[in-house]
Amino acid sequence: MAVETASPKHAEVVALDLVEGTDKAALGRLMRLWSTDIGALTAGRPTPGDTAPELALGNVAVTVTVGFGPKVFTVTGKRPRGLDELPVMSHDRLQPAWCGGDLVLLIGADDPVSVVHAVRRMVADAAPFARPVWRQTGFWNGTGSDGKPVTGRNLFGQVDGSGNPVPGTPEFEQTVWSDEPGWFAGGTTLVVRRIKLNLDTWDELTRSEQERAVGRKLSTGAPLTGVAEHDELDLEKRDADGRLVIAENAHARLSHHSTNDGRRIFRKGLNYVHDTGASRESGLIFLSYQADIAGQFLPLLARLNAADALNEWTTTIGSAVFALPPGFQPGTWLGQELLS
Ligand code: HEM
Repeated sequence: MAVETASPKHAEVVALDLVEGTDKAALGRLMRLWSTDIGALTAGRPTPGDTAPELALGNVAVTVTVGFGPKVFTVTGKRPRGLDELPVMSHDRLQPAWCGGDLVLLIGADDPVSVVHAVRRMVADAAPFARPVWRQTGFWNGTGSDGKPVTGRNLFGQVDGSGNPVPGTPEFEQTVWSDEPGWFAGGTTLVVRRIKLNLDTWDELTRSEQERAVGRKLSTGAPLTGVAEHDELDLEKRDADGRLVIAENAHARLSHHSTNDGRRIFRKGLNYVHDTGASRESGLIFLSYQADIAGQFLPLLARLNAADALNEWTTTIGSAVFALPPGFQPGTWLGQELLS
């Protein structure tokens, strides 16, 4: 599972629904098949029966993440704590075509051909058990002009991901990995939100209005109260007129763990564009990882929905939640403990 790694350059998120008759045993067969596929694709080898084996490349960092939607647990039992579809927020304009799903595949790579190939193989192998219900394609640039890794920017131009817990730290471990006893120990959950960004009205703002909406600088991602990207936010600081420098409704204030009883999440965005004829929709495939959706993500979401300055330029049109089983080792398969 590629939770700790940076967002891939190119990715697809595909949700599938189980076809009628896919019971626990059948789901186990699919997970064995997918585990073999994942072993091959992430090592740059074709899958068994691959119809385009030359498209499997070894130097493109293919990653594959698999998740189970809430309905799977009506077949298997043992549902992880807090794994329920999110309630509809007042600012949401959800389109059913971008919502829900019984399984998710999140496939990333350095090159889009490899992503399309891996998705094609895994969706084909799933056909007797599950069929796609939505597909989202996204991209992210986590490399600076000097070739070194950087946080990356969304299509508003904001540095996005600075406030994340850092992989390898106790903070990260507590935020992301479940400590529930049983099959889900060491697993996590994934929220996928498809968020439309209104670039036309955003572009009408001045730079300082754009910066106030988040509470961070566009140039470096630094808090408006600091100089470097990873400086701590000073949420008390006021300007000469007595106004809070990081505004009351600034996104970074309202989502900060210190104003949310310590609640944290781990976010990894993918930018998207969706063209219909001459018109273009732009947005963010917002991906959030946490041990417990109801305990960590939902209170944050509700708070942002009520007061976030960014709401004026963003509209969520898709939403889905999944449990990601712990990673598997050679000789075992994905979800083995749940499904056998
Ligand atoms: C289109 C929608 C969104 C955009 C453009 C956006 C953008 C940003 C930006 C630019 C930052 C500051 C830099 C950073 O720390 O990464 C940030 C921080 C953050 N956002 Fe969002 N965000 C969006 C939606 C959400 C949603 C839906 C949630 C959760 C429900 C969320 C939770 C957070 C959190 C937890 C932080 C870190 C705060 C901190 O600890 O400093 N964001 N976001």
